[in-house]
Amino acid sequence: MTAFQVNLDLLQEFDRGLDPQHPERSRIPALILGYGEITTVFEIQAEGLRGLAFKRLPLFYSLEEVEKYRAAYEEYNRLLEEGIGLHLPPHSHAIFLNKAGRPVFYIIQKQLPSLSIGNRALHWLPHEMVHVLVRQILQELRKVWDFNRRQDRLQVAIDAAISNWSIDGFDPENPRLEKASLSYVDTSTPLFRVQGIEQLDTELFLRSAPSFLVWVLRLLFLKDVVNRYYDFHRATVDLVANFYKDQRPDLVPDVIGVVNDFLTGEAADLGVKPVGDEEVRSYYREDAFIWSLYLSMRKLDRFIRIRLLHKEYPYILQEKIQR
Ligand SMILES: Nc1ncnc2c1ncn2[C@@H]1O[C@H](COP(=O)(O)OP(=O)(O)O)[C@@H](O)[C@H]1O
Ligand SMILES: [Mg+2]
Repeated sequence: MTAFQVNLDLLQEFDRGLDPQHPERSRIPALILGYGEITTVFEIQAEGLRGLAFKRLPLFYSLEEVEKYRAAYEEYNRLLEEGIGLHLPPHSHAIFLNKAGRPVFYIIQKQLPSLSIGNRALHWLPHEMVHVLVRQILQELRKVWDFNRRQDRLQVAIDAAISNWSIDGFDPENPRLEKASLSYVDTSTPLFRVQGIEQLDTELFLRSAPSFLVWVLRLLFLKDVVNRYYDFHRATVDLVANFYKDQRPDLVPDVIGVVNDFLTGEAADLGVKPVGDEEVRSYYREDAFIWSLYLSMRKLDRFIRIRLLHKEYPYILQEKIQR
């Protein structure tokens, strides 16, 4: 990792003037670089902060909590880079108190070109290159799985989604993938287990959920969603289902072919069950249902908090999930 200097005073000033409902209208404006399921990623339009990607996590109630998260975040980055050998963008983080006195955690990464991110790239890379990209993602995932197999007390999770990978040194004019490596950007959910114990307090991720949903999410989804990231087979199903989500259903049959070729060929020793078409379809339907329901409930919660209770709503929500 190459460390870099960030003007923390300026970042804090940005945070103080942030309008979560309209980041582009904040006192120091921000451009949205991407939405994930949990975080919003933006570029801050100020000298000294441009060229970086900021992921804001306003989830913490106390310094003790944010400190625990920081330790998990740093260890997760270290495991991915040094233990497993993935490439991450140069990264850093910042912690400070917001207007209300609550700790906010910022993940700071070097900003990568938007076309180099997998879910963008798959819209215009030639067909054969999409296959190469999928194969390379599988090879990166394999590093995680191999690592986990070698451990007796440690298990590291990863989110295989195509939107989490960037093609290094990408030149849109002359896309060459064979020699390129990939970088993994999604480190905001640092899931890893030591002797079976999750090191991240996953309850934190329920904080951004509407209070009327928390119990049902905890009961029905949390464990299942978390386990997904430790399971090789489900990771590959998720990777394939992304092609529906990212509006390339035409590529799904071929991508299933690439995945199964990998799982029964060079990765046969892992003994991961191949992926079936119907399995991908039903997974996608369920996943789309969960996340769109979740987003609508969050909007309802935002409406209640802002309009009815005249409170602040600190989270940045996507208007519509593109599917
Ligand atoms: N370093 C970065 N440079 C440019 N864009 C990024 C960077 N990190 C994330 N993004 C964009 O933001 C999206 C969501 O980021 P991610 O870290 O995957 O968050 P989430 O956990 O919410 O999925 C990515 O799919 C990508 O489009
Ligand atoms: Mg992501």
